[in-house]
Amino acid sequence: MCIVNIALIYINNLVNQKALGMSTIETVGVIGAGQMGNGIAHVCALAGYNVLLNDVSQDRIDAAVNVISKNLTRQVSKEVISQQDMDLALERIGSGLPLDRLSEADIVIEAATEKEDIKAQIFRDVTPYLKDSAILATNTSSISITRLASASDRPERFVGVHFMNPVPVMKLVEIIRGLATSQETYDTSAQFVDKLGKTLTNSEDFPAFIVNRILMPMINEAVYTLYEGVGSVESIDTSMKLGANHPMGPLMLADFIGLDTCLSIMQVLHDGLADTKYRPCPLLVKYVEAGWLGRKTNRGFYDYRGENPVPTR
Ligand code: CAA
Repeated sequence: MCIVNIALIYINNLVNQKALGMSTIETVGVIGAGQMGNGIAHVCALAGYNVLLNDVSQDRIDAAVNVISKNLTRQVSKEVISQQDMDLALERIGSGLPLDRLSEADIVIEAATEKEDIKAQIFRDVTPYLKDSAILATNTSSISITRLASASDRPERFVGVHFMNPVPVMKLVEIIRGLATSQETYDTSAQFVDKLGKTLTNSEDFPAFIVNRILMPMINEAVYTLYEGVGSVESIDTSMKLGANHPMGPLMLADFIGLDTCLSIMQVLHDGLADTKYRPCPLLVKYVEAGWLGRKTNRGFYDYRGENPVPTR
């Protein structure tokens, strides 16, 4: 496609956005440089957005950029992207420290730990620096968008944008409106997700939305199956991989997501829906209490310290 055509499409898009009352997103702030945050930064930079990555220290941001670089290299070697795409994506990622750098962002996506008080504190800290027009989004996997929005100064420009792990591979993003989310915020967020090359689904603001409402009770049931001695770690995971065609067994997937995150989501379901069927398995609680959180701590239902994962029970 020649450069004139690209310019015309760009101008056309801008005109359409204005006509629909949407704001234009050029710079994305990402708060939290962990596994979800670095994945979100990765896909945003590849899609052409400038990214400002924020965390509690520059070391954590540097570590995240290292992971992004490794994952981009993997995509180059698989010929999913070119070396030039990778170089340009890395150039687009800058540090979002200190927090006032996020004043440049058109959308800020919070991807911090799944704890409501921490997220609410982040919103209180960041909002004084944001442009009036900026959208504040959260990647929460379960917590009420309406409640989180009320901790910000902009409930009408607040939205849930929930990515799946690993972000560069998984095609889905759930968009969740809070009670006050405006149509313009929804439309701008949907267009942003579309530009990332992801497919969006729309979920109402109920505990754990769609994916985790269905996925987490399945994982929790797998932990109960282990707890009650119905099967070993290996037989449970092999059964679901070969018997239900899941790419990973539920226990390995739990380790991959993080057992603390799985437990937090089950607690949100249990508290929010008040149904005993969402009771977190005591064995899941025990693993979290031990600090065996899965891949990120090198131990969960599997031990990852050796060459191959070894079941821990
Ligand atoms: N970045 C870029 N590419 C990556 C990647 C990453 N972080 N991780 C894996 N890939 C790519 C690999 O390069 C490979 O590419 P090709 O297909 O082009 O070869 C592909 O993904 C598959 O990876 P691997 O060959 O290394 O390993 P695999 O076949 O075992 O797949 C997996 C790994 C994609 C993670 C797969 O096991 C899988 O889909 N697992 C289930 C993941 C899942 O269910 N995620 C949702 C969790 S729920 C959630 O996220 C919501 C929440 O709030 C908790």
